[in-house]
Amino acid sequence: MRSFTWKSLSIALVFALGSVSPHPGWAASPAPVSGEHGMVVTAQHLASDIGIEVLKKGGNAVDAAVAVGYALAVVYPTAGNIGGGGFMTIRFKDGRTTFLDFRERAPLAATKTMYLDDKGDLVKGLSTEGYLAVGVPGPVAGFEFARSRYGSRPLKELMEPAIGLAREGFVLEQGDVGAFERAAKRLAKDPAAAAIFLKADSMPFAAGDRLVQADLATTLASIAEEGPDAFYKGGIADRIVKASVEKGGILSKQDFERYRVRELEPVKCNYRGYDIVSSPPPSSGGVIICEILNILEGYPLAYLGYGSAETVHAMVEAMRHAYVDRNTALGDPDFVENPVAQFTDKAYAREIRERIDPFKAGVSEALTPADFAESKETTHYSIIDDEGNAVAVTYTLNGSFGAGVVAPGTGILLNNEMDDFTAKPGAPNLYGLVQGEANAIAPGKTPLSSMSPTIITRDGKPFMVIGSPGGARIITITLEAILNVIDHGMNIQEAVDAPRIHHQWLPDKVFMEPYALSPDTLKLLATMGHDVQIDENWKIWGQATGILVGGGSVSEIEAGGGARYNGAVDSRIGAGAARGY
Ligand code: GLY
Repeated sequence: MRSFTWKSLSIALVFALGSVSPHPGWAASPAPVSGEHGMVVTAQHLASDIGIEVLKKGGNAVDAAVAVGYALAVVYPTAGNIGGGGFMTIRFKDGRTTFLDFRERAPLAATKTMYLDDKGDLVKGLSTEGYLAVGVPGPVAGFEFARSRYGSRPLKELMEPAIGLAREGFVLEQGDVGAFERAAKRLAKDPAAAAIFLKADSMPFAAGDRLVQADLATTLASIAEEGPDAFYKGGIADRIVKASVEKGGILSKQDFERYRVRELEPVKCNYRGYDIVSSPPPSSGGVIICEILNILEGYPLAYLGYGSAETVHAMVEAMRHAYVDRNTALGDPDFVENPVAQFTDKAYAREIRERIDPFKAGVSEALTPADFAESKETTHYSIIDDEGNAVAVTYTLNGSFGAGVVAPGTGILLNNEMDDFTAKPGAPNLYGLVQGEANAIAPGKTPLSSMSPTIITRDGKPFMVIGSPGGARIITITLEAILNVIDHGMNIQEAVDAPRIHHQWLPDKVFMEPYALSPDTLKLLATMGHDVQIDENWKIWGQATGILVGGGSVSEIEAGGGARYNGAVDSRIGAGAARGY
């Protein structure tokens, strides 16, 4: 009955609109970048160049991921980092998969109420600005964990290009400088950050200026020489702890010494015959992408069409239900039981579908008792090598330039990831997310993330590598790129460029990127009861980087005539590049 209702409405629309192809050509994007032996797609072209050189010289995808991770820490300081944290999803050529969690941990001195005043109210800025916002960083440990187990090249070799770029500097292009302009006021507050990321006259860098990071070059050189101990046990940790103590933070040397990378089983699900491998808790990303895909599998999205009111309604309702689960139940797996099996179960998705009215918007407040709330400045990169090893990395400082502080002498920007914890149940965080107890602050705990480095296979072969920044929207951005390829027939470039929508349970609004939906569609959605709001802040809509294998689109793959690797950097990224060879 339900499917008849859905279908009949569509048939009426098809008749009203004339002939509608289920896979409309989008054709508003340039062609994907092609390659036969390897592909590296990152948010900064110099980092992509470094990654592809590693592959050309015979390094594998993990080697390239390590080299790119260090390079982005130099050439993309708004999000690339060694002072933050992240995740790496790996699919090896033989089909094995793994997931590395090198996200921040809360300092041992952290407490559940550390961002509240005597009255129990949130103190604005404490979890986002300065040293109290800083979690114990993980990338140096994470990259070495990956390289020593799964890479094939010496650390020094992989770090050399990043060290050179930090020491000699690089010329900023138009696509690089926006982030410096937007962060100038914050960076000016910390003398060590201002000395590096602002010009002598306190003005932001402009296109054509050279950014030199001498302290960071020395820091990176000592890591290249001594390995992670230089960071976690040596002078680098000492400098960070000293600055933290002097400026009101709670980081201790013990926090650094006890930092450990976690190797976890990735979350897996199947969507219309495609096998999805993505991030498990402490990320909500993979679980919630799988939950939404499972719900949407019951709707004929290809038939309903990209951007139609029915497709958007189904997506919004699936997002609404999945984000309740995200925000109330998920957290660090060492501290809470995560109902991953339940949330990724197809029967559970069926139950949710039964509760979705095909003609009427749901009401978020009605979904669960009101016991219950992430930054857009994250970065994702996608890599595949000649042997078919695929790596997806998303890492972050949380906010742009993190907490806006650099420990003097290190050149390292520090994160403000503590804001991803629930500072106060029910109060929205940096991304407007309202969250619950499962993500409460505790010593050594990792805040819940949305980062979703994802690898998809079909018939046991690599199909897609995808991910994005975007805070709480990382999940829906990654999801929409997947739907655009699998359901709507877009090529990988079209799929990452296409305008987006987002719903996260609370606030109970459908956010849409300008031009994502036609006035006709908006009218239909309003009739259903959806409150749609155009979100013009382009920064919030993420910057996906993806690779499709065997062709630029599903139809090209099926026709068997496409390039082996097809890379696409989101057109929303100013300085990114896909490089293939
Ligand atoms: N700070 C963004 C995330 O981890 O999801």
